[in-house]
Amino acid sequence: MDITISPARAIQGSIALPGDKSISHRYGMLGAIAEGVTILHNYSTGADCRSTLGCMEALGAKVEHHDGKVTIQGGALREPKQVLDAGNSGSTIRMLSGILAAQSFTSHIGGDESLSGRPMSRVMKPLAQMGAEIAGREGQFPPLTIHGRALHGIDYTLPVASAQVKSCVLFAGLFAKGETIVREPVSTRDHTEIALKEFGAEIEVRRNVIRLAEGARLTGRELVVPGDISSATFFLVAALLMPESDLVIERVGMNPTRSALLDFLVSIGANIQILGVQQTGGELIGSLRIRASKIKGGTMHGALTAALIDEIPGLAVLGAASENGLTVRDASELRVKETDRIATIETNLKRMGIRIETAPDGFTIPGGQKFRAAECDSAGDHRIAMAFAVAALAADGPCTITNAGAAGVSFPEFFSTLQSIAKR
Ligand code: S3P
Repeated sequence: MDITISPARAIQGSIALPGDKSISHRYGMLGAIAEGVTILHNYSTGADCRSTLGCMEALGAKVEHHDGKVTIQGGALREPKQVLDAGNSGSTIRMLSGILAAQSFTSHIGGDESLSGRPMSRVMKPLAQMGAEIAGREGQFPPLTIHGRALHGIDYTLPVASAQVKSCVLFAGLFAKGETIVREPVSTRDHTEIALKEFGAEIEVRRNVIRLAEGARLTGRELVVPGDISSATFFLVAALLMPESDLVIERVGMNPTRSALLDFLVSIGANIQILGVQQTGGELIGSLRIRASKIKGGTMHGALTAALIDEIPGLAVLGAASENGLTVRDASELRVKETDRIATIETNLKRMGIRIETAPDGFTIPGGQKFRAAECDSAGDHRIAMAFAVAALAADGPCTITNAGAAGVSFPEFFSTLQSIAKR
């Protein structure tokens, strides 16, 4: 699907976003292995989170899904009759591998072309230390064949800042003999720790050390998924870019391990107001008011880059229009996302006449640049499709985004939502 987007002068109105992708995956998996019924409201409408539900169904969970409300009858999993399909979703294959490694059956799990090129050794290694037997194509790529085994807990220090790996080890730990300990040199999103507590696991978090006790008994819960702050990024950037913008985004997740985005934007000049914060299921949720702002630009590296890793495509667009530009370092993880995002950001910015210098672990985009109308290509990456749709609003003429349907991986309603608030 190709979409043509005309320039806009302002972003105005009030929107609510589908549920957070990261939290939806976790609730979907935990609901399927918990005893009893789990009811999830505002579950992500994205294809990735549907992949998770499809896998859990194939593993024996009874799942009903209507208009963002998901009901799961959980319990013991059973051997799937087919290869589990994680689609485009790295979160599904990596986190679910932890659960599958501990079952009393063998399973096969794979996905689309992009997923088939993403490294899985980061989960295979700690799972092997727990006693798992997993084989991958060329040793580390999907599809994976997972022979379930009785596992034992480990004390594992994450070599890469990855919430997916942390979650995989903790999910395996739910079934393991003995305590499972994960140490994080750099903090990553903590939705798994929060969700495990909600579902009844005994889990303790002190500084960057997470301890999960043996013998967790999970019970079904009724939970609300907060709006996805990573999806909000694209609307925040659009509102900041367009003069006369005034936008409210309702009920967004404000978990402190995700909201570094807001701190960073405010630090570079964004006018963002938080309109009331509540807690639901251990997660913070609040509304945002964003007005057009003069953005200075900035630099990110180290822990900040890790905290903003999904937001970088949207921030790259903002950086080009900012006063001093944007420099990103320590972001080599971007090279192994749904696409090599350093390369796909570079290609599309250059098509729009924007200067960018790339490095193996990031890029520098000078500020004060103007977007020229062009044809941009998502290359099948949802965040690239959405980032360049926003750049198109600021361009000097209509732009076409090819393979725009990729946005549906996390946010199928993205283009209609964007059009509803783009004033021309
Ligand atoms: C995610 C963690 C991040 C993020 C991904 C979702 C999660 O990946 O980029 O979109 O839900 O845990 P890594 O854990 O590989 O950094």
